[in-house]
Amino acid sequence: MSAFRSLLIVCLGACARFALADGLYHEQYRPQFHFTPPQQWMNDPNGLVYDHGEYHLFYQYHPYSNKWGPMHWGHAVSKDMVNWDNLPIALFPDRHGTIFSGSAVVDAANTSGFGTKAKPPMVAMFTYQDHLSENLGHTGFQSQGLAYSLDQGRNWVKYHGNPVLTSPAVRDFRDPKVFWHALSRRWIVALAVADHIAFYSSTDLKHWVHESDFGQQWGSHGGVWECPDLIAMNVDGSAHGKYVLLVSIGKGGPNGGSATQYFIGSFDGHRFTLDADMDARLKASSLWLDYGTDNYAGSTWSGGPLQDGRVNFIGWMSNWDYATSVPTERWRSAMTLPRELKLTRTARGLELHSVPLMELAALRKDTKPLAAQTIAQSLNLTQLAGTRSGLLEINLDLETLGADAVSLKFGNSRDEHVLFRLNKTGRRYEVDRTASGSVDFNTVFAGVQTAPLRGSGEHVTLKIFIDQSSIEIFVNEGETVFTTLAFPAVPYDTVTLAADQPIRLNAGSIHELKSIWN
Ligand code: FRU
Repeated sequence: MSAFRSLLIVCLGACARFALADGLYHEQYRPQFHFTPPQQWMNDPNGLVYDHGEYHLFYQYHPYSNKWGPMHWGHAVSKDMVNWDNLPIALFPDRHGTIFSGSAVVDAANTSGFGTKAKPPMVAMFTYQDHLSENLGHTGFQSQGLAYSLDQGRNWVKYHGNPVLTSPAVRDFRDPKVFWHALSRRWIVALAVADHIAFYSSTDLKHWVHESDFGQQWGSHGGVWECPDLIAMNVDGSAHGKYVLLVSIGKGGPNGGSATQYFIGSFDGHRFTLDADMDARLKASSLWLDYGTDNYAGSTWSGGPLQDGRVNFIGWMSNWDYATSVPTERWRSAMTLPRELKLTRTARGLELHSVPLMELAALRKDTKPLAAQTIAQSLNLTQLAGTRSGLLEINLDLETLGADAVSLKFGNSRDEHVLFRLNKTGRRYEVDRTASGSVDFNTVFAGVQTAPLRGSGEHVTLKIFIDQSSIEIFVNEGETVFTTLAFPAVPYDTVTLAADQPIRLNAGSIHELKSIWN
């Protein structure tokens, strides 16, 4: 490591410690139970990997500014994906370029030769962005590189043979997501190439062979394709093996700007093939992981404790439409809550649902049950529960009976609010943040986000997390999800349920939550 880099790391550590005394992690808008970097700019989660009891979260990081710039990989670790320890920067730019998004795996059999069988390496595969070459007008300025660590991700060595995969003269050639394909005993990487995903295979992570391409004629193409993730998944926990392909697009999401779509099919080690019913379904509409505007470039953890079998996901909680202008200064951007992805059979076909990780129950500080009752017009849930906290988890099980419109208002003493509505006649859910607080930092931030109502809407369950600058709403066990930023002057501490006709609350609870940064 160069003397300059060592100095920088010491400096960053010292600044972080100094700033901690200076209210770090307690600034206005600072999320209290979401991951944020101590300071400066962050975007995509990278290198999600489990090793030796730790979940690693690397991330796109610009350490010198609160705006996007030359990318590094920031780094944090967690034992439960809820509480995080910040670590020094893991990957710095080098002569091949700055470090864009990518993934990491534990190379247990030491196929790469970077470690030994007794001491297997952790290997990161990432995109090099050669800004110099881009400025000179070349096209092939993105390539893939490797780095490895023999000490659980603390120190990294770049592979001397970098880059390992160079661009076939296209501008967009990035975001490698690697996994071990046990059937063919090879590594597979999914790579975003402008308007499609390319699959490559390798036996040693260093030499890659192009296998196939997917997607030019499928799904949404409102922006370039980015951050793919090909995930082996079981249907409803049974052994019906399927593959789900996540693809993020910078523009053209269901409610504008960035969003993540998915495809369901099979993968034989060479080619991803869509399920038979996908043709008709995708012609009707793309499939979206989240209808909120603030869940982008997400990915799943590689590996996990034995027997776990869960597919655990985290996304970047922002949107390229306004990410650089949100009203935070010391840091910019948070990650979404970690979620478990589930491939679920429904009357409409298989769907990818997401629910908050069960580990988040550790955040609960105080639990207030809400008694079953009929609600004639409106009910102030937080008053009923006797809570004034701005950090909340709310669970509701509702029969909407004859009501056409049911709403939840998350508000504060300044009458700033976010509204969630079920609109039965309009057959949609709505999230309205037009009067949510600070909205004028950008022209498209304020607005109403919608998602189609699936089923009749007669029975609705809701799980909602409210942090200092976000609301995450999981409808019907993650069948529909809204991840939404909001910047109220003071936290939302009042939640009111209302309807145009009497509705029934079958069961409910409100949990006050703890900060993870104390
Ligand atoms: C997605 C993305 C990736 C790229 C990274 C650069 O948000 O554009 O495609 O690798 O961000 O920071």
